[in-house]
Amino acid sequence: MTRRGRIVLKLPVWAACLAPLALLAWRAATDQLGANPISFVTNTLGDWTLRILLASLAMTPLGIVLGAAWPVTLRRLLGLFAFAYACLHFSVWIVLDFFFDWARMGEDILKRPYITLGMLALLTLTPLAVTSTSGMVKRLGGRAWRRLHRLAYAAGVLAALHFIWLAKVGRTDQYWHAAVLALLLGVRLVHWGVRAVRRRRAAAAAVGATPSAASRP
Ligand code: HEM
Repeated sequence: MTRRGRIVLKLPVWAACLAPLALLAWRAATDQLGANPISFVTNTLGDWTLRILLASLAMTPLGIVLGAAWPVTLRRLLGLFAFAYACLHFSVWIVLDFFFDWARMGEDILKRPYITLGMLALLTLTPLAVTSTSGMVKRLGGRAWRRLHRLAYAAGVLAALHFIWLAKVGRTDQYWHAAVLALLLGVRLVHWGVRAVRRRRAAAAAVGATPSAASRP
């Protein structure tokens, strides 16, 4: 894909990912954050972290289903936006919920399982964000880098569980997010399965085509 094509593809993604932040800033500036502003900001940032993370995880399955390469071009950008939103979501918790009271934060992480899960999701995303540059791909080697970046699915699972655990009775959107994640994982698993079978068949055919020592003149 040309440089121009990449820019055209990425511009709407930048706009879509920055829009929720702009809306949140506008709401804050016009005093429209509701009766509990801290909760509103935390939940809005959490919602967008999960949505963008799912969007980044959707790029490879979308490429597989469409047989196209362009979705993969957006994967890193979406992943970095998901990480940025996760950091903001976490910062609200640190600054507004606990005001840097590290001891109480530690207690909260250990005491409330949904906080533990959120923390684990963020910790899982961190090495992926750090190694997202082309330089790091080269340094780690393509194979190791790809293996490491499969952790994105683990982060997705932890984040979905964080949401399921914290959601109040009567809500259903947490399950929809989990269902989307399961679908994306399903597409990847089927694809891996198909490729493994093809590889095994190709290897068997290659062995069959090689004349054995006994049949050689
Ligand atoms: C990848 C990381 C994370 C994702 C995807 C995520 C996602 C979410 C989502 C979807 C919500 C619910 C929003 C709603 O109710 O509409 C939420 C709420 C919340 N998250 Fe996270 N989160 C992450 C990490 C964290 C971390 C690291 C912390 C703190 C250590 C945290 C603390 C909270 C809190 C306090 C709430 C509000 C719970 C409530 O309303 O009672 N999250 N998060």
